[in-house]
Amino acid sequence: MKDADNRVSATRKDDPMLLCQISDLHVKEPGSLCYGVVDSAAALRACVDHIVRLPQRPDVVVATGDLTDFGRPREYRHLRELLAPLPMPVYLMPGNHDDRDALRAAFPDHAYLRATSPHIQYAFDAGPLHVLALDTTVPGEGGGALDAPRLDWLEQKLAEAGGRPVVILMHHAPFPVGIGHIDSIGLADPEPLAAIVRRHPNVERVLCGHLHRPIQARFAGTIASTCPSPAHQVLLEFGPDAPNAFTLEPPAFQLHRWEPRFGLVSHMAFIGRFDGPYPFHDPTGALLE
Ligand SMILES: [Fe+2]
Ligand SMILES: [Fe+2]
Repeated sequence: MKDADNRVSATRKDDPMLLCQISDLHVKEPGSLCYGVVDSAAALRACVDHIVRLPQRPDVVVATGDLTDFGRPREYRHLRELLAPLPMPVYLMPGNHDDRDALRAAFPDHAYLRATSPHIQYAFDAGPLHVLALDTTVPGEGGGALDAPRLDWLEQKLAEAGGRPVVILMHHAPFPVGIGHIDSIGLADPEPLAAIVRRHPNVERVLCGHLHRPIQARFAGTIASTCPSPAHQVLLEFGPDAPNAFTLEPPAFQLHRWEPRFGLVSHMAFIGRFDGPYPFHDPTGALLE
């Protein structure tokens, strides 16, 4: 993991750019399992290994919150060890399971974590993309909020972007997903955020975490989406009484690829080692039906 304060400058304006999103890592102290079941450290190790082995190396990795399970210093030290093999810049964001002070203390070389206070909001460039990280967390609460200072910062940064393509990162998603227990700890009053985003058609995406599932929605004239976890996924069952439960569905992360002739195209990558690849033709070279 490089010092993420270096700008992501490997790409030229006309090159594709690959932004990798991981989320909801829920790292615990060594030897502890999430809910007594999930080895989130092993899950993140597999995720990092998968990213390192990708045929095209991402230019940057962003982690959209719930980096640790309880926001404890030892958990952040463990997180740091687990992320260390990543050779590209890594940007970290808090989620409702995190603690801002403990996060900052464990990553003193990540100066962007101190760009604003008390919230952790920052901006960086990734190739032609201008990335704005919003802090939706409310200490001690599961749900998220964006108050006037945080939204004013967003307005200012969008003005400074000057029409460049923008990606907004935030932990809580600004839309309900229909799964009662997680909607009950969603983002309070997303309308002021929507009003700002609506005025800026250069916002390509709002990339979120928190949901432990891949979900997309139209939001304020752009696309908002959530990222699966490398560890546990939220049970896909709708309704106000949906069980507050998780499953061990296949873990995954997202790859958002900037294509200069088109824009941003988002992929989901399952984590693991799978059979294949097999060619789409037989050994004689004939195409198979
Ligand atoms: Fe989470
Ligand atoms: Fe969360």
